[in-house]
Amino acid sequence: MAAVLKPDELIRPMQKADIPWVMAIEQKSYEFPWTDGIFSDCLAVGYRCFVMERNGDIAGYAIVSVAAGECHILNICIHERQRRLGLGRRLMEYILEHSRAEGALMAYLEVRPSNITATGLYWSLGFEQIALRKDYYPARRGREDALVLACVLANPAVI
Ligand SMILES: CC(C)(COP(=O)(O)OP(=O)(O)OC[C@H]1O[C@@H](n2cnc3c(N)ncnc32)[C@H](O)[C@@H]1OP(=O)(O)O)[C@@H](O)C(=O)NCCC(=O)NCCS
Repeated sequence: MAAVLKPDELIRPMQKADIPWVMAIEQKSYEFPWTDGIFSDCLAVGYRCFVMERNGDIAGYAIVSVAAGECHILNICIHERQRRLGLGRRLMEYILEHSRAEGALMAYLEVRPSNITATGLYWSLGFEQIALRKDYYPARRGREDALVLACVLANPAVI
């Protein structure tokens, strides 16, 4: 599962100064994007916030909460022009490995059932559906359910 980055790729902690670049990607990627205040709050409360650079430019980011043996992937996003290059997979592999190293035994996330790209990535990494949250997300017409997915990161018996 360990991420093997390409020579032109780098994953590093997000800094406050990165937020305008992150917001530019966020706003083009989601119909209901996070605000810059949400990203600032994530940094302030100590969530694991990463940016992925490609050729020195921010190509994606991920926000993860790690606590009590669990990691919750709150946001992962790749620049619309940098998709289908394997960046999303390598960023996911990196944050799962990082969370496991911090003691997380399980990873959780929510995803829209309509997000075929993201669900395809998560299934391929070993995530499985454990619940359905009705009407969880805002949608253009009404609300959309969320799939709750989980992935075992480590067996406590072998740690
Ligand atoms: C989801 C996302 C992070 C994937 O990033 P990416 O860099 O394009 O993904 P990768 O190139 O690493 O592809 C990983 C896997 O995702 C799936 N995938 C990627 N693009 C896909 C597409 N257009 N259609 C179907 N599956 C796709 C495939 O399973 C792919 O594996 P494969 O290349 O072995 O077939 C990216 O599409 C994105 O940022 N989307 C907008 C934000 C978002 O929806 N985030 C998730 C919120 S829960």
